[in-house]
Parts: sequence; C-alpha cells; structure tokens
Amino acid sequence: MDQSSIASAGQALDPDAVIQSTLQDRAFQEFLTLFLQKDVKTWSTEREKALLYGLAASRASDGVIVELGSYCGGSASFFAKGLDSRAGSGRVVCVDPLLGAPPWLCLPAGMFTLDVLRRNLGSLGLEHRIDLKVGDSYSVGAAWPAEPIDILLIDGDHSFEGAMRDLECWAPKIRDGGILLFDDIDNIHEMRVLDEIMKQMSTLARIGTVDGIGVYQVRGGQWALLDELRGLLDLRGIHRPWSFDAVHATPVASPYRHTRYWTDPTFDIGYDLGYLAVAQKGDYGIFGTPAAELKQLIMSIQTDRGGGDLHVGASPAGYGTGFRLIGCDPHDAPQMVRLLLPGGLVLCASETPMATEEAERLCEVMRKAGLDGVGQGGGAKPLFWGVAGISALPATRLVEALMAVRRPASPVA
Ligand SMILES: C[S@@+](CC[C@H](N)C(=O)[O-])C[C@H]1O[C@@H](n2cnc3c(N)ncnc32)[C@H](O)[C@@H]1O
Repeated sequence: MDQSSIASAGQALDPDAVIQSTLQDRAFQEFLTLFLQKDVKTWSTEREKALLYGLAASRASDGVIVELGSYCGGSASFFAKGLDSRAGSGRVVCVDPLLGAPPWLCLPAGMFTLDVLRRNLGSLGLEHRIDLKVGDSYSVGAAWPAEPIDILLIDGDHSFEGAMRDLECWAPKIRDGGILLFDDIDNIHEMRVLDEIMKQMSTLARIGTVDGIGVYQVRGGQWALLDELRGLLDLRGIHRPWSFDAVHATPVASPYRHTRYWTDPTFDIGYDLGYLAVAQKGDYGIFGTPAAELKQLIMSIQTDRGGGDLHVGASPAGYGTGFRLIGCDPHDAPQMVRLLLPGGLVLCASETPMATEEAERLCEVMRKAGLDGVGQGGGAKPLFWGVAGISALPATRLVEALMAVRRPASPVA
C-alpha cells in the first residue's frame, strides 16, 4: 500500500468538505475554465467534478483510480487533474469499449468515442495519467492483476444487471478504506434497488450522495465484502447468470500484457481488443503481408492468451471457421469474416499511411462484410478492427466466454 493509501485508510470521508475546499482551490478553478472551453461532453455537475478532483488529490495521489465508463473522458479528466495537482505517481484506468456501440451495450449507433476521448485528454495535457483499457468492464475485470484499487467509479452499463455485475466484479477489488463512487444511484429506479442493498452492508459504509453520485467507503477486505454482497443478493432471490469466482480468486498473475513483441504504442489498443475478444478458444492467423508490428502483436496475444494455434500464410484459402483473431492487410479484411468465431476479431494494418477517405471507405466495406464495432486507431500506420457476429451471442454465453479469459491461478511472486 502506498503512503497516501495508508494515510487515508482510517481517515473519515467527508464529501462536502472535499468539495468545498476544492471549489476554493485556484488550480481547480483554472482547470474547470479550461475544461469548459474545450466543450468536452459529460453529464457531471460542478460539485461532482470537484469531488472527483478533490478525492483523487487527497486519497489516491500515488494510487490507482478505476473508472468504468469513460465516454469522452470528462470525469476521467478531473480525476487525472486532481492526481496531477499532487505530482505523485497515481493513475486513472479508464475502462470502456468505446467501440461505436456494439449491439450488446444498447447505446445509440455512432457513439464511437475513442478518438474523441484521446483528443480531449491530449488537449487537456492529461494523457500521461491515463491507462486506457478498451473493453467491457467484466472482461477487463477478469484480467485485472492483484492490485488494490483506491477509488472506483461505476458509470458504465446502466441496466440493473449491468450495474449489479460491475458491483460484484469490481467492488471486492477496492482496498480496505478505499472509496466506491456509483453514478446515477439516486436517479434511476434500478440503481436505487442496488443502493437499498448496499445500505444494508456493514462492509460498505454509505457516506452520502453528491448530486447523482453515491459515495461509499469500504470497511473490510475483499472476501468479507463479497460474502456479504452475495448473501444479500441471494436473500432477495436476485439470480445472477455468472460466477466471478475466478475473478476474485487468491491473487493470480494475469497473463495480460506479459509479452510485448511489438514496439509501436499506437498498436497497444490492438492488444487489448485481441486479448479481450469474446471468442474464448480458437486459432490465430496472420494472412498476407500486414505491417510487421501487427504480426508481432498477434504473436504476443497468442502467447499470452493461448487457447489456439498460430497459422501464417499468404492467403486463408483452405481454412474453415475456427479463428478467434486474425491479422491481415486492410483490404483483405472482408475475406476473413467467414473464418472468425462469433466474437472473434480481425485486426488489419499496412506499412503505408492511408488517406482519411480511403480509411473511411475501408471501414464501410468492413461493416458491409458483417463485422460489428468497426473502428480505427490513429498513427502513421493506422490499425483497423472489427468483431464477428457479436449480435448473435446470447448474454449468458457472452459472460461465460468472458469468464474464461483468466487462466488457472498461479501465485504472485
Ligand atoms: C454515462 S457514460 C460515462 C460518462 C463519463 N463517466 C463522464 O462522466 O464523462 C457511459 C459509458 O459507459 C460505457 N459502457 C457501457 N457499458 C459498459 C461496460 N460494460 N463496460 C464499460 N463501459 C461501458 C459506454 O460506452 C459509455 O461510454
């Protein structure tokens, strides 16, 4: 545990005092003015922004803040700036699929916020504080290393099932004395039901609400919180079609990002997407002559994630369905769709830059070929991706597949 965490573990939490002193802080006011000039889309109120900034500065200056649901980076900016004000080593982990609203999220089409989020954080000078994990909360949760969280903000999937799943998956990862912030706890009926349950917990002290955000403090270790939460959910007959036992098992070394054969950071996002792809088992393919970095990336994912063999060839002729991840030249992406398992991913990149119109045309061709969540990452060698048949996956199958991400436990050194 770092020094700020030790200091705050026994410290009483007073959100109003945090907000008042933050609102009087000149550095906060200057940042707020800059933020408003940038026109970043967010729903958070001024008091909520002050709360995030103040808590980050006072409770996590050298710690870990996790945000489930980052959208355009609005709330993450206030966490990040609060950390910056103390110049410690703290970081904000932003977890969001940002993939142009894949069907299972039930968001309006076209909510593709990856580029917007990056641009916003860059223009506010905060990228160095952000660790972006492009994926849905439970798959990233399944690959979370044994690192206690200082502050957790749940603001992702707002359905009852989604919010409950985030609570069960992530709350036990908060360290004793750490803080849970639950957005919209007071203004959405389903969330209020969860709030009623949390109010009964002795391992989670309900401190109050700040506009839409519920503020809680963890009082007890991982297992005590999990046991109490599960007991209360079972008592109410709330059935959950998932098991997070593997996710909360005794500390395990996650194979996530163990190898790094690629070096270009603009390809990092491809690793997250490939590692967290929903298809649980299946082969890996490299077809044609994609960018060298992409080949290295696919090899890293196959080494870390496993579950299938690597096939390399000039073309996919002769292969049938059975791949969870394929790397290829951009214009060959449509040919790969028939080879992918439901939830499998195609990544493509060429050695040469591509004009914007050509890139947009390519995305359109990939969509027409039946790929979901089509998107692209920036950089001199643009990376494109698309997911096969996500809409065909029933929710329970999806959760089962995500749970399989974690390999058998091995002790942390
Ligand atoms: C209300 S917005 C977040 C707003 C942001 N925290 C802010 O205040 O600026 C909700 C976000 O949650 C994301 N989301 C939905 N389901 C998710 C899931 N299962 N895991 C992670 N993020 C999810 C959506 O893509 C969307 O960007």
